[in-house]
Amino acid sequence: MATPQRQPDEEEDEMDLIKILLPDNHGNGLTVRLANGVERQQVLQQYDLPSIKSMVVIRQLPSQGLSFQLWPAANTLVSLLEQHHRQPENSPLSQTLAAFSKSGGGHLKVLELGSGTGLVGIAAAAILGANVTVTDLPHVITNLQFNVDANAGLLTLHGGTVHVAALRWGDTGDVEAVGREFDIVVASDVVYHEHLFEPLLQTLRLLMGLDEKMVFVMAHLRRWKKDSVFFKRARKLFDVEVIHVDKPQVGSRIGVAVYRFLLKGSKVVVVDKK
Ligand SMILES: C[S@@+](CC[C@H](N)C(=O)[O-])C[C@H]1O[C@@H](n2cnc3c(N)ncnc32)[C@H](O)[C@@H]1O
Repeated sequence: MATPQRQPDEEEDEMDLIKILLPDNHGNGLTVRLANGVERQQVLQQYDLPSIKSMVVIRQLPSQGLSFQLWPAANTLVSLLEQHHRQPENSPLSQTLAAFSKSGGGHLKVLELGSGTGLVGIAAAAILGANVTVTDLPHVITNLQFNVDANAGLLTLHGGTVHVAALRWGDTGDVEAVGREFDIVVASDVVYHEHLFEPLLQTLRLLMGLDEKMVFVMAHLRRWKKDSVFFKRARKLFDVEVIHVDKPQVGSRIGVAVYRFLLKGSKVVVVDKK
């Protein structure tokens, strides 16, 4: 399938979207000179992981676009990983992760789609001791790699690994290049532009279509009615279940929801907690 191209007006759309959705994320950074000599505003954020008494450092570059900022659903996934580490028996992720801990040894293999700053993938590697591949569009990779490198000490300490790769949704070759040897695919805040729904579903089909054991865990904040189009199409191929819903933020009616997607008709036994 052809690689989805960025539309000429997409960057402008992105900046509008950011102003609406992340209004507080501007104006509190430092100006830095990047490796290519260009000056950019940078926000360095320390993100606490109390369950493993550690901290992730994330560089955001707000003026570069939406791929360089931390989105609300990423925080939700990290909170669930934290909760799982503290109390696996009461965690919304327990059914999903228990299936893999029972299937015998080794590190959990995780693929993240649309990783942005990489917080979720880095936290998953550190908290679960997992082997994680974080992916995004080619122009996002330098910042993603910067953030992975900035957390090398944390990863060594906790035994997880993070590999960075370009993966454009809808691109068959990119999926072949990263492979399909994953237990879990994760993503946060990746459903927003309607023209990306089909490429994202195509990538999920390519990854999960032949492996009924692979699970997709996605955190999403529903903002627009059109988001339901994505879920309607996804339900033709996957059984989609809500495994967690956050309390809405002040001033909002809806909280971030976390969904689990399994290939329709999958015989994977989901362990019941009760
Ligand atoms: C709203 S941001 C969310 C970033 C991150 N997951 C988070 O929650 O902080 C959406 C991400 O999807 C990525 N993305 C958009 N279109 C893509 C495509 N066609 N292929 C791969 N990634 C894409 C963007 O670059 C961006 O990093």
